[in-house]
Amino acid sequence: MVKIAILGLGVVGGGVADIIADNCKLIEAQVGQPVELKYILDIRDFTGHPLEKLVVRDIDTILADDEVSIVIEAMGGAHPAYDFSLKALQAGKNVVTSNKLVVAEFGAELLEVAKEKGVRYLFEASVGGGIPIIRPMLESLAGNDICEVCGILNGTTNYILTRMKRGGITFDAALKEAQDAGYAERDPSADVDGIDSCRKICILAGLAFGILPAPETVSAKGIRSVTLRDLADAEAAGCSLKLVGRACSSDEGKTISVAPCFVKGTNPLAGIEDVYNGILVRGNALGDVMFYGMGAGKLPTASAVVSDIIDIARGGSMTAHWTAAPEGSFTDGEDAVSEYCIRLPRKLDQAAIKEADGEYTYIVEVAGSMLAKNYPDVIAAYKMI
Ligand code: HSE
Repeated sequence: MVKIAILGLGVVGGGVADIIADNCKLIEAQVGQPVELKYILDIRDFTGHPLEKLVVRDIDTILADDEVSIVIEAMGGAHPAYDFSLKALQAGKNVVTSNKLVVAEFGAELLEVAKEKGVRYLFEASVGGGIPIIRPMLESLAGNDICEVCGILNGTTNYILTRMKRGGITFDAALKEAQDAGYAERDPSADVDGIDSCRKICILAGLAFGILPAPETVSAKGIRSVTLRDLADAEAAGCSLKLVGRACSSDEGKTISVAPCFVKGTNPLAGIEDVYNGILVRGNALGDVMFYGMGAGKLPTASAVVSDIIDIARGGSMTAHWTAAPEGSFTDGEDAVSEYCIRLPRKLDQAAIKEADGEYTYIVEVAGSMLAKNYPDVIAAYKMI
């Protein structure tokens, strides 16, 4: 019998408890023995809840119980999620998490502690919700030198951009719809300001290149300033406006960034709408491979957590190997010349792709770092990928 404990019976923790209960026979068949939920750590009142008897208030109850071999951290936030994960690993327990903040900020340290203790720290659910991406990158693509990983990594912002485009509604109205639909948090900053995408692209960069960039060193822009005219410009350019996290490695060095971009119609990421996520990985042997699916939500995310639990319970050994990236390992890539779609309050000596309300939209080739100098009156500028 494999006994587990869930830290935090919120959306993801509740989903894990549901899947463990609903699919218990299937999971037992996969693992070769039953997987039983022994404890739930939560400070809230669960009087009358079917799992009330499993609720404990003190992490030490779980840490002191030798029967518990897997701890699922589904608390969210940095603290005490990081502290409890560290303690659980130090106590010789495997830890599974969906917490991208903790993985992106403390993953290098936690993986090291797991290695020292001979246990595992797994985080399939931290990127792409239910999409299998971590394990495929570690296992299926292991024979590739990965030169690029690029994705729509945040379901909430993709939903907002889709609603703006399809419904012709403003950012504020679409954000309200996302909040009413339960996608966006009441404080939507982590989603709409690109912070969540930034953590996720850092994790993917760690997997791709073996060094984990610190999220606070990454240039991350969000979608608050996106207007309906920007979306119309994207359409005129044959593109879709998407919030994209991108990390690349070449002879010139490594780059990482998060920004709203004009994704060309030929790029498979262009067609990804609503709360879906898509991640494109480019390997030197395989070429391009795309991962697509539900990037958020209770059961999709819990499904990824349960896959990690099953992996540990079966005795698997796959693990990420990365170290914290030394300062200066990554740049924002803005010194390289690239195609941009820009909008100006004046005409250039070239054909505009759109003209309306005294504003003219052009496609130009320029280094991002030179945009403000070359076009000081630029109203909007989006890199085209
Ligand atoms: N807030 C995140 C999103 C949840 O919208 O994608 C999944 O990480």
